[in-house]
Amino acid sequence: MGESVNLFEINSLYKCYNQKEKPKVYAVYNLNLTIKKRETLGLVGESGCGKSTLGKMLLKLEQPTRGTIIFNQQDITNYSFNQMRKIRNGMQMIFQGNANAFNPYFPVEQIIREPLDNYSHESKEKKREKIVAMLEKVGLNKTYLTRYGHEMSGGQRQRVGIARALILNPEFVVCDEAVSSIDYALKNQILTLLTDLKKQFGLTYLFISHDIAAVNKICDRVIVMYLGNIVEIIPNINDKVQHPYTKALLAATLIPDPRKREKSRVLFKETEEIKIPEKGCVFQNRCLYAQQVCTIEPPALVSKDNEHYVACHLYQ
Ligand SMILES: Nc1ncnc2c1ncn2[C@@H]1O[C@H](COP(=O)(O)OP(=O)(O)O)[C@@H](O)[C@H]1O
Ligand SMILES: [Mg+2]
Repeated sequence: MGESVNLFEINSLYKCYNQKEKPKVYAVYNLNLTIKKRETLGLVGESGCGKSTLGKMLLKLEQPTRGTIIFNQQDITNYSFNQMRKIRNGMQMIFQGNANAFNPYFPVEQIIREPLDNYSHESKEKKREKIVAMLEKVGLNKTYLTRYGHEMSGGQRQRVGIARALILNPEFVVCDEAVSSIDYALKNQILTLLTDLKKQFGLTYLFISHDIAAVNKICDRVIVMYLGNIVEIIPNINDKVQHPYTKALLAATLIPDPRKREKSRVLFKETEEIKIPEKGCVFQNRCLYAQQVCTIEPPALVSKDNEHYVACHLYQ
């Protein structure tokens, strides 16, 4: 049998958070998806739609409520902590808080060495060589080994975070809002760095962001999520988006003037409470094109060309 081109196969995945005295929240609902080896897959959607929860489930940092996760043809859904240990070095996460999450009392060398210490018994010198080589890959150098977080800029800290994530040679990296809330010039530098590293190391990225412009810049395919559901999969954001939610999301971000952006809310219907409807389409309460069928039947995620998928009754 040849090597599979899929890194992940995700089937009917659910995550439900049960909280005391509160209604159940489905952060991810019946999600089906494959992630191809060496692709940069974008994941966009409003805050709270379940993006981070999905990323964490793929790394088994959150346990799915239902469904299966196949990684490199192994069903890891019910892997124990010890079973995960053997493959966890192959999957890493870079997140927005990375830059600030470092222990302020640790110098850079120690921050990057920590994952190495968990997985290898090489000498300290050998590890230092690897760390210096990695610092150079991310545009820093050996003078950074002894620096502390407060002695560096936000961009330098972000580079250290990337070095730490890549030091174990992972195959898969979840970038969770990795370039959100940093200024434009720096954002472009980090995006270029991530793209270069991807080519050098043959990485596969799940690139989570609410910033459609950033996603558009580096992603091969983009998943649009709404309330725990995939509503559209787009080969490229320039292609014609179809789902009313994606259209509204895109229109809202492409309007540079924040006052006009406010007006673009007419693209959505306002509702007091945004929660998953009991039946039918997840977006029905806010959709301007909802028909009767949308309140009864959930639309399937379908494609005419096996590339562009949309879950909307307008297109079935
Ligand atoms: N540990 C948790 N306990 C309870 N609810 C959670 C927890 N983590 C996330 N949620 C809820 O799950 C939903 C999805 O959250 P999240 O995956 O963080 O969204 P996103 O990353 O898209 O902003 C939200 O409604 C959030 O409040
Ligand atoms: Mg998040």
